Amino acid sequence: MPCSAIHADLLMSLTSHMTGTEESPTAMSSLAMDDLHRLVEPARVHRDVYSSPAVFALEMERIWGRAWLYVGHQSQVPKPGDFITTTLGLKPVVMVRHSDEERIHVLHNRCGHRGAIVCYQRHGHARGGLFRCPYHGWIFRSDGSLRTQPSPGGYANVGFDASDPAFGMPRVARVSMYRGFVFASLSPDGPDLEDFLGEARDTIDNMVDRSPLGEIEVTGKVGHRFRHRNNWKFFIENLHDAMHPMVAHAATGDAVKQVLDKYPDSDAGRAEAEVIAPFGGSYDFFDEMGFVGLPRGHGYMGGSKSIFSHYQMYPDYLAAMEEAYGRERTEEILSYNKHNTLVYPSCTVRDGIQSIRVVKPVSVNETVIESWTFRLKGAPQSMLDRTLRYSRLINSPASCVGPDDMSCYDRIQEAAEAGTIEWIDLHRHLGRDVQAGERVTAIGTSDLALRNQYTAWVDYMTTKSGARNAG
Ligand SMILES: [Fe+2]
Repeated sequence: MPCSAIHADLLMSLTSHMTGTEESPTAMSSLAMDDLHRLVEPARVHRDVYSSPAVFALEMERIWGRAWLYVGHQSQVPKPGDFITTTLGLKPVVMVRHSDEERIHVLHNRCGHRGAIVCYQRHGHARGGLFRCPYHGWIFRSDGSLRTQPSPGGYANVGFDASDPAFGMPRVARVSMYRGFVFASLSPDGPDLEDFLGEARDTIDNMVDRSPLGEIEVTGKVGHRFRHRNNWKFFIENLHDAMHPMVAHAATGDAVKQVLDKYPDSDAGRAEAEVIAPFGGSYDFFDEMGFVGLPRGHGYMGGSKSIFSHYQMYPDYLAAMEEAYGRERTEEILSYNKHNTLVYPSCTVRDGIQSIRVVKPVSVNETVIESWTFRLKGAPQSMLDRTLRYSRLINSPASCVGPDDMSCYDRIQEAAEAGTIEWIDLHRHLGRDVQAGERVTAIGTSDLALRNQYTAWVDYMTTKSGARNAG
């Protein structure tokens, strides 16, 4: 089929798909499957993956509706009744510490009466562990069950079952926690969280192990929120796109060099340069970092080397670590240098700098990226200062680096929507990947990172259970 015909056929078939029930025979029509397969080729993807509202709607159902998605960290809800609100795909949810202090529930953030969103605050404390809908005053417990409604006599002997979870704030299908990081899945089926994370668990382990006490906590109540006027996939594709820093961030790198030349004795300047300078690294530097692709679209750059490799070591931190773990284990923990471990599709973890960024799709061309920072318990303030410095200089909306990237995503989004380009190219180092077990590796500037994500994308989008990924 000619490329130009894909768009029309896709919209037609997906429109019919979206009118069916999930996983119904019509929903999985061969035409829709063929169209989805045609969007992704080994060395290119069609512009519709970034610009078609129908594709976006199906992504919310088949990728974001099946995968384990990052919700938050246990330290954000330390006491019973503490909650945060967030979204899983497009679904608003509340993560709340239950009254037994042990359990953390993730509830659909909607009243079981007329469906109003119950909590609009980003974080807070539900007094008595109770949520009250602001419309008609229905009250829910922190496990999501309906406690009472005003004038309850009106519901007696009318066929209303107050114990039906549908009348509460229903719990999300599955919730699990790995070393304090809470994930949830909107699907009742699929692998457990540890299987889903696979080797990506190592990155979370390393982030926690970098604390001399083996514990971390979120800093601040609200992470940076960075609104992007483009598709959610641009951000995660950029994470391991090592061909862009030396171009897109060249001006930033040059500015750092000029400042350092001007103020050679500035400690503050050196601390900031340490963070920014690697973004001006050479092609060889990023090639040597390498890329490792994992099942389910996960992946990371680095391992023995990353942009964090040359960070200065604070003597008081090293001493605290060696006291806690001994010299050999400390060396093992601190020499682990990965850069941006992607847990597809919802978050990217930086163990070396203790931060996590969370992807929040809003529409086909709008995404919010949240950036959260963590404090290593038992570590000196200098470590947290560096984490915050990194977040401010690299990830925040007012940073030196993030807006460079975003302006490039905007340009592709405009082209994809305008149809000025039909296919987005992924040829670089095609066919030179090395498969070893479940891992597939390449030099850092390969397009493998993007191809690995689209392998998962196709699997989620075109199989009934997302067989290799969700099921
Ligand atoms: Fe970048």
